[in-house]
Amino acid sequence: MPFHHLAVVTRDVVGNHLFYSQAMGFELVKVEVRKTPEGGWAKHFFYDTGSGEMMAFWELHDGSLPEKFPTGLSEAAGLPPWVNHIAFQAAGVAELQSHLKRWLECGYDVLEIDHGWCYSIYTTDPNHTLVEWCVTTGVFDEGDRAKAQRALIEEVDFDVGKAKIQHHRSRCEPLHRREELLSAGKAEKERGP
Ligand SMILES: [Fe+2]
Repeated sequence: MPFHHLAVVTRDVVGNHLFYSQAMGFELVKVEVRKTPEGGWAKHFFYDTGSGEMMAFWELHDGSLPEKFPTGLSEAAGLPPWVNHIAFQAAGVAELQSHLKRWLECGYDVLEIDHGWCYSIYTTDPNHTLVEWCVTTGVFDEGDRAKAQRALIEEVDFDVGKAKIQHHRSRCEPLHRREELLSAGKAEKERGP
């Protein structure tokens, strides 16, 4: 069952927009502006991920909230950054490689892992959440299903020696920290629709 949307918070809508529109290639298609039940108000930005599913971001305006609440999915839970993350589906390894190139050109470091049964690239969005492009390259057999069922209730063997890991460093500044892009985006935001 596909998602309709996944909604998370951002404290930097302009930097977040640069990342999700340019580095990810998603189109901003809708904003909903509403009062919140707590007495504040919020903008809810929706990005089409290209498959009919959407990624949504809240910009909250509520004086009762702490000034610096954590926005990263793992950070907010007090966990290491790799734990809670968002994975988008790539059509194949070739498309995954073009996403990798795009991230590097947009200033984002990339971790590339061939897990053996799926192929992944990872980077961190402006909200400090780990974002992944992933493609399934293997086929699940009865052994996979049986081990997964066993793992629910007992210890099972480690998956060792299967993942191939590469780190790629970008040579440029991340989009969401480029002053000229941020000020252009902020001017646009102040002008309004
Ligand atoms: Fe993942």
